[in-house]
Amino acid sequence: MIDFKKEIAGLIAGAVPELTAQEIEDIIEVPQDTKMGDYAFPCFRLAKVLRKAPPMIAAGIAEAIKDAPLFSKVEQVNAYVNMFISREEMIRDTVTEILKEGADFGKTNVGGGRKVIVEYSSPNIAKPFHIGHIRSTVIGNSLHLIFKALGYDVFRINHLGDYGTQFGKMICAYRHWGNKEDVIREPIKTLLSYYTKFHVEVETHPELDDEARAIFARLEAGEKEEVELWQWFREESLKEFKRVYDMLEIEFDSYNGESFYSDKMPRIEQELEDKGLMKESQGAMVVDLEDEGLGVALIKKSDGSSLYITRDIAAAVYRKETYDFYKNIYVVASQQTLHFQQLFKIIEKMGYDWADGCVHVPFGLVRLEEGTMSTRHGRVVFLEDVLNGAVEKTKEIIMEKNPEAGDVDRIAREVGIGAVIFNELSNNRIKDYTFKWEQVLNFDGETGPYVQYTHARCASVLRKAGDEAVAKASAENLAGLDFSKVASDAAYDLVKELYAFPEAVVQAGERLEPSLVTRQIIDIAQSFNKFYHDEHIIVEDEEEKTAKLALVIAAKTAIANGLALLGVHAPDRM
Ligand code: ARG
Repeated sequence: MIDFKKEIAGLIAGAVPELTAQEIEDIIEVPQDTKMGDYAFPCFRLAKVLRKAPPMIAAGIAEAIKDAPLFSKVEQVNAYVNMFISREEMIRDTVTEILKEGADFGKTNVGGGRKVIVEYSSPNIAKPFHIGHIRSTVIGNSLHLIFKALGYDVFRINHLGDYGTQFGKMICAYRHWGNKEDVIREPIKTLLSYYTKFHVEVETHPELDDEARAIFARLEAGEKEEVELWQWFREESLKEFKRVYDMLEIEFDSYNGESFYSDKMPRIEQELEDKGLMKESQGAMVVDLEDEGLGVALIKKSDGSSLYITRDIAAAVYRKETYDFYKNIYVVASQQTLHFQQLFKIIEKMGYDWADGCVHVPFGLVRLEEGTMSTRHGRVVFLEDVLNGAVEKTKEIIMEKNPEAGDVDRIAREVGIGAVIFNELSNNRIKDYTFKWEQVLNFDGETGPYVQYTHARCASVLRKAGDEAVAKASAENLAGLDFSKVASDAAYDLVKELYAFPEAVVQAGERLEPSLVTRQIIDIAQSFNKFYHDEHIIVEDEEEKTAKLALVIAAKTAIANGLALLGVHAPDRM
């Protein structure tokens, strides 16, 4: 696509040799009010260099560039040169490019094949996979898709919470009160009930704690019986998690969780010792980060057992050695910000310059309308139930709105699950938000169903136009078409939003913020719908019809590509 800023900078540079094209490009603005043009060039800064009043300079530049075919109009207003891009050329160029690129529209090679690790989801085994886990899971998946589109070589890790002293308690409880059939039938709820029972019983039987500790020590030492039980709990939990991942169509390249690093920690502890970073404190080993304002990180408990952060240090070192990453991204709730600050600081103090390639991507809480959920108070909302609920509710809506849609089950799945994912990705990730059904499934708001519906509407226009007419609206045919009939405000606004899409993807990657993609496809959908309402698309005039259909194909392509980056389907009917 034409890089308008660059083109304009080139033209102005011809008139103002005192500045480089790059300097000029940095000064060019996009006015808030489109009446002031599509681009504006303020001349204040030139006054010093040229020793002339800014309005005079602006007038001179306007005169020099006004005849370039890129513009429909160039005006001097006070100190500004206001430039109006030729709509026809802008529309033709943008639409042609999108039609040419198709599913690749929005992809670039910013990444140049560099390795990026995205760690996301990372639930704890034998604990409920609840609505709170949707955030890391869906944000991480979208970031992985965005980085892939930007040309990075992405590796997806699910850093399962599958290790720690709680497994000593769980095995202990299972041995006292457990039952194999129950665990197989309903693993997570059953294991959780054992864990809860342990905490009740230990109040009156403190010796259970010692028993659990001894069991965990046997597990750490690799004793067969304990390891087998732990492995079984892990597998059963993973089966449940995978059901949810299947519904979301989310995958991982590795499920190496905390336990994977259990044999890699002694080396790390030794290294911390050797580098003079470890300190004894009340029988435990710590790294003191007080000088950095990050408190004290507990590396090894007084009973010798290792900790969460120790496993994370080992994991980061392992990842660097195994994958040689350019970026190592952790998509984890903002409650763990201090943990990651400590982690990265320790890695830096160990002398690893790749510490600055490690990035924490924090996000806020999900609240439910009834109030925040809490595992401890038993107010757990399982993610699987939310997803199933979304599919069911969507099915009802579709049956009511469009009973002839066909394949209602598939559509309800794509729209229902898509709605939950889209909702998750439509807010700035750092904000807390409240999950509200009416909002998620609203077909008219700024929601997934609204954007998907717009996509289906594009598809429906193309079906109505017929294959033959659609075939004529191909990239090769656009060069000779008269676009002057497709240069209305509505068409032009739509094309401007389409033009902005690739840059939105780049920004989403840079700022680790999928909501920028979400925002952009909402804008595209809204401006498409305005165009659709304002204008007749399937008109008598063949040339006009072809050009308009090309614009519809372009809008459909951009919406589908954007939804794909969020991990959401783009159905052709709904
Ligand atoms: N399992 C942890 C939790 O549920 C999240 C793990 C985050 N990743 C990490 N490398 N520490 O809170």
